[in-house]
Amino acid sequence: MTQCLPNILSLVAAAAILFAGCSPSTPESPRRSRAPFGTLGGKEVFLYTLRNKSGMEARITNYGGIVVSLLVPDKSNKPGDVVLGYDSLSSYLKATSYFGAIVGRYGNRIGKGRFTLEGKEYALNVNDGHNTLHGGLKGFDKVVWEADESIPATQPSLSLSYLSRDGEEGFPGSLKATVAYTLTDSNELRIDYTASTDKPTVLNLTHHSYFNLAGAGSGDILSHELMLNADRFTPIDSGIITTGELKPVEGTPMDFRTPTAIGARIGVKDDQLRFGRGYDHNWVLNRTGEGLSLAARVWEKTSGRVMEVWTTEPGVQFYTGNFLDGTAIGKGGKAYAYRTGLCLETQHFPDSPNKPTFPTTVLRPGEKFTSTTVYKFSVQ
Ligand code: BGC
Repeated sequence: MTQCLPNILSLVAAAAILFAGCSPSTPESPRRSRAPFGTLGGKEVFLYTLRNKSGMEARITNYGGIVVSLLVPDKSNKPGDVVLGYDSLSSYLKATSYFGAIVGRYGNRIGKGRFTLEGKEYALNVNDGHNTLHGGLKGFDKVVWEADESIPATQPSLSLSYLSRDGEEGFPGSLKATVAYTLTDSNELRIDYTASTDKPTVLNLTHHSYFNLAGAGSGDILSHELMLNADRFTPIDSGIITTGELKPVEGTPMDFRTPTAIGARIGVKDDQLRFGRGYDHNWVLNRTGEGLSLAARVWEKTSGRVMEVWTTEPGVQFYTGNFLDGTAIGKGGKAYAYRTGLCLETQHFPDSPNKPTFPTTVLRPGEKFTSTTVYKFSVQ
């Protein structure tokens, strides 16, 4: 500190010294802000904006934990919105496609909406033919989450919690789930999930953004190049329920071990592609130990944007927006047509509660569930 004593003979020099770092503290700019987004059932819904120091911006609402927009620089450093979504809460309330949402209590399908746990059979609300998809009629994507406002706004993070009561949608146990979104200065959107329960239950939390690296609403995703770090996938039946097998991708249109355009084989004659109406399958990730492991890499040539997906989960659902049909009118009035977004939903395998050979999705009292997924952006 001694060298910081101002020289009264030279105000200019003193100012220069202060500028050079001797001032006690420079206020940090806020990296999270909040604006009203509407109300639901008497609860306020907000739109939070997170900004990092490297040109990324995420807008996230506490309704469904939805990522409403994600601005990512392209190869000319121009930011573009790479996720599908809507401009207003009312559009999300009517939506059926899970754009950008946190999905739970059980992401993906549970066959016939039933499972047995510790000798007791549970019947869930079914919402996908005879099956339960993404948590049932009112999953975690359709509830208002509570934001932790105690986290300083100088951090580009948003932590959301939801208490799912015992019996909700048919699931046993009161489950407390927390999802923290963070934008890092290395242009990552990091998602940390934690959960605990007061009775044995099943759990599979995921994130459901539809990405289009050329920009939301700019066309289909068929020319995006994809690499999936997986030697095997979980085949499905005609009802999109996993059969229980882990099948090698070798020699099938499911082999994305070397980067391949998504559209290159999507139209070939293949039962799995027919059942999924395109890609709508879970890949068994080649994991290396615990911790974050590379699941997928996507590259879009015109923008130069690259997205890598890193996860602690054992699987990833790759879905090519086969149910989008142009009726969803998204941000800026753009219609989202067939296959204009791709999802990479990190997860445990679909229908695990009925597939004893799959990694377990059971969570018991006293255990802490943790899971992390990182979507990392760069250009090439
Ligand atoms: C599922 C699709 C489903 C879509 C709903 C995906 O996670 O795999 O089958 O149609 O979510 O948006």
